[in-house]
Amino acid sequence: MRKIIVWTLLGILQLDAKEMGELYFSGNCVTCHHPVKTISAPSVVEFKKRYTNAFSDKKEFVNYMSKWVLKPTEKGSLMHDAIQKHGLMPELGFDEETLREIASYIYDTDFTKKGELDSLFPKKSLSNRPLH
Ligand code: HEC
Repeated sequence: MRKIIVWTLLGILQLDAKEMGELYFSGNCVTCHHPVKTISAPSVVEFKKRYTNAFSDKKEFVNYMSKWVLKPTEKGSLMHDAIQKHGLMPELGFDEETLREIASYIYDTDFTKKGELDSLFPKKSLSNRPLH
């Protein structure tokens, strides 16, 4: 029943796959993965680069990333250095289809572009800044 309500709402909002990927990504992945800064986990730019180096083809990139995030394992990791530093990423409990949308969004998005960052991390009010 709850599923039906959710799908109805999504139908009303008429979000396409890319927007869904963006929504899921900004609601869940950015908690740990900052787009450009490595804090408690590698930045999105960093893991994306590792993946694009390994898989130049979008299909392979999306396949591998969605399967790995579905069930992170040390064996399948492309970032053993990050596991050493931060520990293995926890399993998040998303279904594979959602993870494919997220991976596809990551592949298509240039996170170094300013506009993308502004929408994920709105600027703090300038009035809080000390005057020089
Ligand atoms: C609770 C924190 C946390 C959340 C939430 C999180 N990650 Fe991670 N992620 C990590 C950490 C820590 C690493 C580095 C260690 C590793 O690779 O396992 C990592 C590594 C990765 C990697 C590199 C995999 C490799 O080859 O080792 C990918 C890809 C990734 N995350 C994607 C995602 C996506 C997509 C989401 C959102 C659906 C997400 N992460 C949400 C903590 C998180």
